[in-house]
Amino acid sequence: MKTVLTFRVHWQRSLVLFLGLLLPVVALAGHPGTVPDMPQMPAGNEPVLPLPPPPVVDPLKLELGRRLFYDPILSADGAVACVSCHDLADNGAQRVARPVVRPGQRHLVNAPTVFNASLNAFQFWDGRAGSLEEQIDSVVRGELEFATSWPELVARLKAREDYVQAFQRVYADGITPANVRDAIASFERTLLTPGSRFDRYLRGDEAALSAEEKQGYQLFKDYGCTACHQGVNLGGNLFQRLGIFGDFFAARDEISSADLGRFTLTGREQDRHVFRVPSLRNVAVTAPYFHDGSVTDLKQAVRLVARYQLGRIIPERDLSRILAFLKTLTGSYEGRPLDGKRR
Ligand code: HEC
Ligand code: HEC
Repeated sequence: MKTVLTFRVHWQRSLVLFLGLLLPVVALAGHPGTVPDMPQMPAGNEPVLPLPPPPVVDPLKLELGRRLFYDPILSADGAVACVSCHDLADNGAQRVARPVVRPGQRHLVNAPTVFNASLNAFQFWDGRAGSLEEQIDSVVRGELEFATSWPELVARLKAREDYVQAFQRVYADGITPANVRDAIASFERTLLTPGSRFDRYLRGDEAALSAEEKQGYQLFKDYGCTACHQGVNLGGNLFQRLGIFGDFFAARDEISSADLGRFTLTGREQDRHVFRVPSLRNVAVTAPYFHDGSVTDLKQAVRLVARYQLGRIIPERDLSRILAFLKTLTGSYEGRPLDGKRR
């Protein structure tokens, strides 16, 4: 298992490097429309893999993690819980450009869905967290989230007899920051959305997709979307500049620090506007799009990435087919389809 993990990480790193080096060269050479040939994925001959079934977690730990996810006791003012911005009864996010934190206060960026987030190699739009546990650390301290500290949070939980007992039943050392992180992250790892029509197709059910949807998947590969959106999450494992074939932000009056991407973390010029490629799982139900939630229409989002990430203008006919394919990526959580339709 250990070697497999190491291999995955190395493979991802070299892919990041490979893309990072090649795409700018392609851009400079002035061949809009050409995408570099990508190295083969380590398993299978499709660039996309079906979601695995949710992991089996100790039921007491799962229940504790779920409870913490829903409980505003984690935040300093007792007003905000994970679920406030990541609605599990809906799409695992908030259907607004930037989530409301407290009355009159909005987050700086769009909230990505927590569904399937455990399968991303990096968390956040700029990928600054390498694990779910690290991601939780950042929520606890974040002014725009829980605005608290671990000692304060642990003290609040320890003052509650029900939590003292619930932790004791799962962890020998009771309530600690590491155990809070572990419980929530273990719950998050079960937030997978299997059963999408596309996954059924990948597993061999030819009838799961219509002819148009299959053509859409072929176009998705042919146009080179899979250079960036690939693997089990169709994204989540690479970093890329937003605006390889032109300045995505040219029409903006103002550029926020969140628009700078990884530059904010590293201060390196080559990281300006570089973001983690987002997952496209459930993308038809996770509008609005992009790190700033600036686009509400999926077709328009695809037009923009085609132009700025591939240097292409995709004809309307192909665009509708790609859209039809993207809609087959919607799965179910606990038997409930995320698109709200019965299946
Ligand atoms: C006030 C709203 C808010 C709250 C509360 C909140 N989040 Fe988030 N969450 C966001 C936003 C906004 C982002 C994106 C931030 C960024 O990329 O800089 C995010 C990102 C994430 C991600 C990364 C997903 C990805 O694809 O990169 C995960 C996982 C996540 N949140 C889980 C949680 C958990 C667990 C909690 C509770 C401990 C929580 N969030 C609380 C708004 C919130
Ligand atoms: C060179 C890498 C690259 C290629 C190629 C690429 N994308 Fe993306 N895509 C990105 C990045 C990076 C973002 C996120 C930008 C941001 O920060 O908002 C993104 C965002 C998106 C989004 C919005 C997702 C969301 O949740 O906000 C969609 C939809 C999308 N891409 C679809 C496609 C399609 C369809 C293609 C092929 C026509 C494609 N992409 C090609 C890198 C790429």
